[in-house]
Amino acid sequence: MSDSAIGIFDSGLGGLTAVKELVKVLPNENIVYFGDTARVPYGNRSKKTIVKYAEQDASFLLSKGVKMIIAACGTVSSVATGLCDTLPVPFTGVVAPTANAAVRATKNGKIGVIGTSATVNSQSYKKAILSANKNIKVYQQDCPLFVSLVENSFISEEDPIVQLVVERYLEKLKSQNIDTLILGCTHFPIIAGAIHNYLGDNVTLIDSGKETALYAAEILRQKNLLNNDKAPGDCIYYVSDTVDDFKRTAQIFLGKNDIEDVYHITL
Ligand code: DGL
Repeated sequence: MSDSAIGIFDSGLGGLTAVKELVKVLPNENIVYFGDTARVPYGNRSKKTIVKYAEQDASFLLSKGVKMIIAACGTVSSVATGLCDTLPVPFTGVVAPTANAAVRATKNGKIGVIGTSATVNSQSYKKAILSANKNIKVYQQDCPLFVSLVENSFISEEDPIVQLVVERYLEKLKSQNIDTLILGCTHFPIIAGAIHNYLGDNVTLIDSGKETALYAAEILRQKNLLNNDKAPGDCIYYVSDTVDDFKRTAQIFLGKNDIEDVYHITL
């Protein structure tokens, strides 16, 4: 089973930020990615709908014979919390690894959390942080427009529109003197430059994709499921909307433009 692929899913393209990190950490692993591009965004939907979509996404990956599933989506990880109990393979979402990294990083005990409305309303990050250290102060802000900015390629830190939206959403967190900020949504690392410029060098940004990739690698190591083949792994992408749209926008997330092996599926 160790040469089976790792399955990663997201509501759309954002989970590719986690794929990029996973390839850095485990370059010889095969990856099957599913982006539910026909039904994105999940972040403003009801719990019932998010749970149903998450189960369908995970079932699709299981049908591809994956050895582990990563929900790279902050919204799914926050809301579909029972998913892990239903799966026959190891699973991780993004919340626990990311919250733990933030707890390790903070020096003044003030952590900010940004995500979709569903993520922030679920209080998932706040609960995970407080269960690790109940003395930490957690400040949350939902930033739904960040997803639209990234999906529409408004990502430059020089862009006044990006700067304005960043300032509008993060003004309060800045005044609360946080020293650590969780980027609790797959899309947000793409505009980390603008967020960093606004908050300054004293605020450490925690990337959920990166922390989750490191955590997933650790799970596979512990369970003896790492691929022993030393050749670079393959990445196959499946999407529920058009392949061409995916290829175009995926360049932003993966930072490369030769994305092959993309297939359309209907769930
Ligand atoms: N993937 C989602 C997340 O990380 C963002 C996009 C959406 O709302 O579906 O929360």
